[in-house]
Amino acid sequence: MRIPIIAGNWKLNKTSREALVLVEELKREVVDVGGVDIVVCPPFTALETVSDAITETNIMLGAQNVYWADNGAFTGEISAPMLKDLGVQYVIIGHSERRQFFGETNETVNKRLRAALKHGLTPIVCVGENLSEREANQTFEVIRNHCQGSLAGLSAVELGGMVLAYEPVWAIGTGKTAAPAQAQEVHAFIRGLLKKMFGEAAAQETRIQYGGSVTPENIAALIGEADIDGALVGGASLKVPSFAAIIKAAKK
Ligand code: PGA
Repeated sequence: MRIPIIAGNWKLNKTSREALVLVEELKREVVDVGGVDIVVCPPFTALETVSDAITETNIMLGAQNVYWADNGAFTGEISAPMLKDLGVQYVIIGHSERRQFFGETNETVNKRLRAALKHGLTPIVCVGENLSEREANQTFEVIRNHCQGSLAGLSAVELGGMVLAYEPVWAIGTGKTAAPAQAQEVHAFIRGLLKKMFGEAAAQETRIQYGGSVTPENIAALIGEADIDGALVGGASLKVPSFAAIIKAAKK
């Protein structure tokens, strides 16, 4: 059985002081929640503060990116051992904002996720089509390209420990969610693709989150779909009432 996973992607928001306020309030709200994996992904600068605050709670820590080298002359980058050292367990890789604004490609996603796996971090690998690709009926082609390129050369065992996030770019931060059936169609396609690439067992084990304008109002219908195993939440994860409501509604 796949345990639902709700991850909050805080993006470029919250100083470490603000992050502490947010996570302390979140802790109180979700202290009794079981049956759902809860992850918060603050910016790098708030990781240590949040890590200390969530020790011995049901909240886990994620980062928003990772570089592939462990150390060296790579000014401005952060490595997997550095994240591990702070208690980070998950790392978002290949978010569409990174593909769009920071030149991220399938190849760099693949390098980052290999580095994450090597150091025991669980990657949350993002895939998704933009609006013009959807309108040109290229959704499945784009998803196939993202999955095959990003996951190239991995073993079934490596895949089994991973999380994928289907995030249609047109739904991110726009208030336009994919309809549950529309999202399920792509999630089922991704699982079918994983089956072809890695076999049935690994495909069944891999959790596939939906992301893009997830709210307390639409989470229940999304999570009700067979192949939607959680959500990657942006805007609604920055307010405790909405993020806690999403977490509580995510239990299958
Ligand atoms: P959103 O962002 O929930 O604000 O649409 C989701 C994401 O980018 O992960």
